[in-house]
Amino acid sequence: SERELILAFESSCDETSVAVVENGVTILSNIIATQINSHKRFGGVVPEVASRHHVEQITDCINLALAEAKVSYADLTAVAVTYGPGLVGSLLIGVTAAKTVAYAHHLPLIPVNHMAGHIYAARFVKPLVYPLLALMVSGGHTELVMVTAPGEFAIIGETRDDAAGEAYDKIGRVLGITYPAGKEVDRLAHLGQDTFHFPRAMDGEANLDFSFSGLKSAFINTVHHADQIGETLDRNDLAASFQAAVVDVLVDKTMQALREHPVSQLVIAGGVAANQGLREAMTAALATQFPAVDVVIPPVRLTGDNAAMIGAAAHIELAKQHFADETLNAVPNLNF
Ligand code: KG4
Ligand code: ZN
Repeated sequence: SERELILAFESSCDETSVAVVENGVTILSNIIATQINSHKRFGGVVPEVASRHHVEQITDCINLALAEAKVSYADLTAVAVTYGPGLVGSLLIGVTAAKTVAYAHHLPLIPVNHMAGHIYAARFVKPLVYPLLALMVSGGHTELVMVTAPGEFAIIGETRDDAAGEAYDKIGRVLGITYPAGKEVDRLAHLGQDTFHFPRAMDGEANLDFSFSGLKSAFINTVHHADQIGETLDRNDLAASFQAAVVDVLVDKTMQALREHPVSQLVIAGGVAANQGLREAMTAALATQFPAVDVVIPPVRLTGDNAAMIGAAAHIELAKQHFADETLNAVPNLNF
């Protein structure tokens, strides 16, 4: 049919989201019910709290998504859902809701990998050209991924410890910033200078892997040491120094990956793709080192968790008729 409408679900972490996406590239609705205020006081996502919120929100999200898109169940082509990776209790709410809708309305059910969803948020910017390289940077993942063909992924580099977003959240806590801290650290970083010169772990090594736990420790030790001797450090400079270290490594490893794997597009995906410092540094590095490579970064409202990106990724699977049945289960540690 001409108009392929996918009702997509995302509930892997702390956002309950339902979207209607047309032909994989047009967002008709993208309802996102965030739980951040409920988790803030705990300094991170509490799985049990997250699951309860998903249960409470999901029906409203479905109704709002359909109403805003002005479509009914009868118009839908398929239902799609994130089945991993993520928190098992959170994933199960989306998976159960999607299975229920698919069964009740005789629709095919498309299982989607959350990370594939983040990468395919780039489809809302422009058509993708394969093979492409994706830098996937979120709260749970930091990976360099080759997308060799539609829906075909190969991890060529990954973090050996913390994810980039996780490092932002942990050092943010030391600066007294509530979870999730990335956006505020990014803002402070633009007001300061890289005066601390924190370590750039694994930079210049032959592999394409990352490590952020040493940087996190160096940051925390610096702040604690200053506390002990009664010295107050400049928060903006601390943020700028941390961000410079993260961004340097992300940019250098991405340039190294581009030397080893020629592509014409670079996609930056995941929550940390919202980072202004990263966007600026990557664009500048490409301009001098790979002027022919086109960088595709989704708008900030689509870099974080949302169901529209799941609809975009699901549309690729729809073409391949990759469907699941009612036995679909959540896979918390799903990989590509
Ligand atoms: O992709 P996402 O919404 O959820 C996961 O799948 O993990 O990513 C959330 C992460 C959080 O760690 C948050 O602090 C980080 O993305 N983040 C940022 C920025 N905005 C969000 N990190 C750095 N700079 C930002 N502007
Ligand atoms: Zn995510």
